[in-house]
Amino acid sequence: MILAPSTLDLFAFGEDRLLELTEQHPTAFFAYDLDAARRRFRRLRALLPGRVRLAYAVKSNPGLPLLETFAAEGAWFDCASAGEVSAVLAAGGTGSGMVVAGPAKSERDLQAALFAGARIQVDGIEDVERLHTLHSGAQPLRVSVRVNPASGITETATIIGGGGPSAFGVDEEELDAFLAEAARYDRVRVTGLQVFAASNELDAGRLLDNHRTALRIGRHLHEAHGIDLDLIDVGGGLGVRYAAAQPNLDLRALGAGLERVLAENPWFGGELLLEPGRWLSAPTGVYCARVVRTKVSRGERFVMLEGGINHLLRPLMTGQSFPTLAVRPGVGVIGGRSASGQGGELVPTTLAGPLCTSLDRVGNGDLPEDLRPGDVVVFGQAGAYASTQAMTHFLSHRPPEQVWVQDRAVVSVAPVVSA
Ligand SMILES: Cc1ncc(COP(=O)(O)O)c(C=O)c1O
Repeated sequence: MILAPSTLDLFAFGEDRLLELTEQHPTAFFAYDLDAARRRFRRLRALLPGRVRLAYAVKSNPGLPLLETFAAEGAWFDCASAGEVSAVLAAGGTGSGMVVAGPAKSERDLQAALFAGARIQVDGIEDVERLHTLHSGAQPLRVSVRVNPASGITETATIIGGGGPSAFGVDEEELDAFLAEAARYDRVRVTGLQVFAASNELDAGRLLDNHRTALRIGRHLHEAHGIDLDLIDVGGGLGVRYAAAQPNLDLRALGAGLERVLAENPWFGGELLLEPGRWLSAPTGVYCARVVRTKVSRGERFVMLEGGINHLLRPLMTGQSFPTLAVRPGVGVIGGRSASGQGGELVPTTLAGPLCTSLDRVGNGDLPEDLRPGDVVVFGQAGAYASTQAMTHFLSHRPPEQVWVQDRAVVSVAPVVSA
């Protein structure tokens, strides 16, 4: 055993399976465990009140086998483009279980959402105006309004807003004026609300604060505007650990808290929608890249990998590294007190990629001191905001493979492509 069990929890596969995968796939790849995805969905579902719907946020990982897995579990889907809408339909999802969001939806996005019969979240009066023209049904189109609340919680200022200026939604202070204007478009009716101002939050209490904010705004729509809300969407933001020392999000506290939030708001008879992306998909995936060379530069130890920000961009954008460990094909996990005894002590390491830019950093980690070419660095929690959130085309290197595993067997291998 190289690492404490709490550290190994950060990797989708155990030591034996990681060894097999790295031996079978000679170039950089993502590998995902579909059974883990199914288990996570079921666990979360079981802990939430019956009135809470669960929509998987496709942006966190739009891989078809993953969408098929969640669709088979009866998940709803949160889509943010025409491409995501068609991916969900191809995976067996339906428009009646789909919400479509985005701060600058194109006509193609709106048409795809209308065609699917999805619930569209409007971000401003322009969306209402365009839907009034595009919608051809006999009944007014029911839409949700996304509201940028006056206060919110953020992982970093660069990810999702709340409490400040934002490209998303209607500012809470402008909501009354927005609704007065929207009422002029009789082919569109606001019957839903979306409020989401959290990202990677590990504290259930803080998530529930966001949910209470949504209900507070919903109550205003109900009381001041007479809107009978059928859907309040509180977004995602359920966090996962990127380091062993971090706590797990307390799902029981979240489920019990949501029950209380609903009980505190008897005026609301609709459904509450939770849209987790990261929590469902991050722990199902790993990214694996071979060491090409190592060096020490002015006292800093670098390990250069075959994949860089063309495969894994998130650490550069957020300053937060994925957890790492090292595997030596033919041997197993190496470093520290590993069973193989190989690799030497773990030492602080800067991980860089093959791209000709000093921006090409994929994180920092404690890795074995004698890491050498051919060894594989494994990044945990890489099932979300990784494979498709990278600069795949930059410098024309090969895209990573995506390996989907079910019942311990590889069911699909494909390069990363966008929908
Ligand atoms: C509208 C919406 N819903 C859900 C999510 C998923 O968030 P997370 O992956 O943090 O759960 C996002 C993330 O950006 C979002 O913008």
